[in-house]
Amino acid sequence: GCDAGTPTGGGRALPVLVDGLRNLEYRGYDSAGVALVEDDAVAVHKQQGVIDDLDLPNAHPATCGVGHTRWSTHGKPTDANAHPHTDCTGDVAVVHNGIVENYDALRAELEAAGHAFSSETDTEVVPHLLEAELAARRETATDGGRVDEDGESAGAETSADGDGSTAEDAAAYRTAGAAGGFGDVDLVAAVEAVVSRLEGSYAVAVTVAGREELVVARQDSPLVLGLGEGANFVASDVTAFVEHTREVAYLADGDVARVTGDAVDVRHDGAWVDRETKTVDWEAEAAEKGGYDHYMLKEIHEQPGALRQTLSGRVDEVAGDVDLDVDLSSEVLADVEEIQLVACGTSYHAGLYARRLLEEFADVRVTVEVASEYEFTGGRDPWETLVVAVTQSGETADTLSAMRKAAKAGARTLAVTNTVGSTAAREADDALYIRAGPEIGVAATKTFAAQVTALSLLTVHIGRRRGALSSERASNLLENLRGLPGAVQQLLDASERLEAVASEYVDEDAYFFVGRKLGAAVALEGALKLKEIAYVHAEGFPSGELKHGTLALVTEDTPVLTVLTEGARPKETLNNVKEVESRGAPVIGFSSYDAAANYLDVEIPIPDLGALEPLVANVGLQLFAYHVANELGRAIDKPRNLAKSVTVE
Ligand code: F6R
Repeated sequence: GCDAGTPTGGGRALPVLVDGLRNLEYRGYDSAGVALVEDDAVAVHKQQGVIDDLDLPNAHPATCGVGHTRWSTHGKPTDANAHPHTDCTGDVAVVHNGIVENYDALRAELEAAGHAFSSETDTEVVPHLLEAELAARRETATDGGRVDEDGESAGAETSADGDGSTAEDAAAYRTAGAAGGFGDVDLVAAVEAVVSRLEGSYAVAVTVAGREELVVARQDSPLVLGLGEGANFVASDVTAFVEHTREVAYLADGDVARVTGDAVDVRHDGAWVDRETKTVDWEAEAAEKGGYDHYMLKEIHEQPGALRQTLSGRVDEVAGDVDLDVDLSSEVLADVEEIQLVACGTSYHAGLYARRLLEEFADVRVTVEVASEYEFTGGRDPWETLVVAVTQSGETADTLSAMRKAAKAGARTLAVTNTVGSTAAREADDALYIRAGPEIGVAATKTFAAQVTALSLLTVHIGRRRGALSSERASNLLENLRGLPGAVQQLLDASERLEAVASEYVDEDAYFFVGRKLGAAVALEGALKLKEIAYVHAEGFPSGELKHGTLALVTEDTPVLTVLTEGARPKETLNNVKEVESRGAPVIGFSSYDAAANYLDVEIPIPDLGALEPLVANVGLQLFAYHVANELGRAIDKPRNLAKSVTVE
């Protein structure tokens, strides 16, 4: 996932692009680039690093261009992998957010047709496909080929047969005096043909040499048009252009639009359509947070999209299996006696959740260790151990040192991380990316959900390869994973209710979070969120432990938050709820267990989702913590004493 900001028309494009990218940088920042349209080329400036380090001309006459700031999902953050990406002729430049799931097959097809690739990205197939498409259309046009009423040439599908062009072919299509190499071929129709071949998610913006127009398309990745006076804009987020215009139109999935300085035309399913325009009333600063008051709240709300990215292209529900692009074969896994999960803080809680899934679905012995305690464990045969380091940043010192200790002792290592190219990703034998997109709020929210989701996929991978998980059971878990983004959305839709609950229970003495099994992991996480952002005392633990001590602290002024769902032993948990309820404590239940209703002061319903119900409940706990902290006026995105990435032991 990455971000693009693209202006066209009127004044000079370069300063608009650079400002737009600066505004978007909070969303991804490992590399940046721009492409500026010239008469017979597209001038690309791109490199690894932040936008301010980009080597740019002081001024450029282009009035049309595209830009991008990248958060890696495929390929390391390098100069070559930075966007924009170009075709063989250098006449086409493309920026893209999302994931092209079938890029392997498309790349093989294009390479066989003579296209030379210069990056490791999934995106690069797009300019090459477009080059082939434009060349085929140009050829048809010069051959006097039939052109139908929409201006679509009959040769539109040529590239699908592998009849793509080579650099020489494309160069041969250039005609003296024509604007750029592709003349006036219908770019919208060509882009429609190209995106029809892409599987996965995309927001793409395309420029072609000599043409003062952008063509953009979207599927499952945000794209918004900015309608200015004598200039129009396109970006993944309003932030990019809010200082130029507040008139916006959101594109729908499947839309393709042509944008020039004085017009914006949108097509859908081959017909021209109108998209409603709106006026955004955010200030630039709020726009950066998508209109939310804090990054944390924005990131909580981003979870459905983030989880779709985590799952994208990895799930085969019919076969009951996953495709994770990790080097953990059946042979390797057959030798694994134990899986050790090492992590800190929220990532440790994701590890606790995963332990129960691995035990249940992969029938393997699992330990979870707080990374800073890992050095005291011993006595196991490292060569029979798979050590999984769970770390959003990939830079947490405690986790790295545990991983290094394990590797030194001969264990196989896997990093589960959000950060391509991070130290953990580079040092581990394998990396599994959670693809949550950048998280700015210090408190981890969407990355927790994405970690649990990625670890659920890993559970299926391991369970299947160890012969412990039938395809039926796997399909069932995968079906629940597919339903997860929608179920999370249902909780988010109840966000006002949680705001009201938070304001009712703010200012209490202490808060207890209890649950069993998967609900115990979530209870710990719910308490940590409240502690770190609201600065109130909170404690999370398995509900069975209440009667072994903490019950002494329970009063009418200590709300108890509890998870009563599938995967969290609701019947047994309810027994513990009765213990606190009879002592007058208010009970807030995240529940799919009908029998609990009578014992709850507040019931937040959780949709049916098997072993993932506690993960959905956790979204409710995040909202509770957020709204309590907000009522208390805390510095939610930057809580006192805490840092996003903890690089000291
Ligand atoms: C809490 C939080 C921290 C991190 C911990 C590990 O909201 O964010 O507890 O989870 O510092 O960080 P990573 O996952 O980057 O290793």
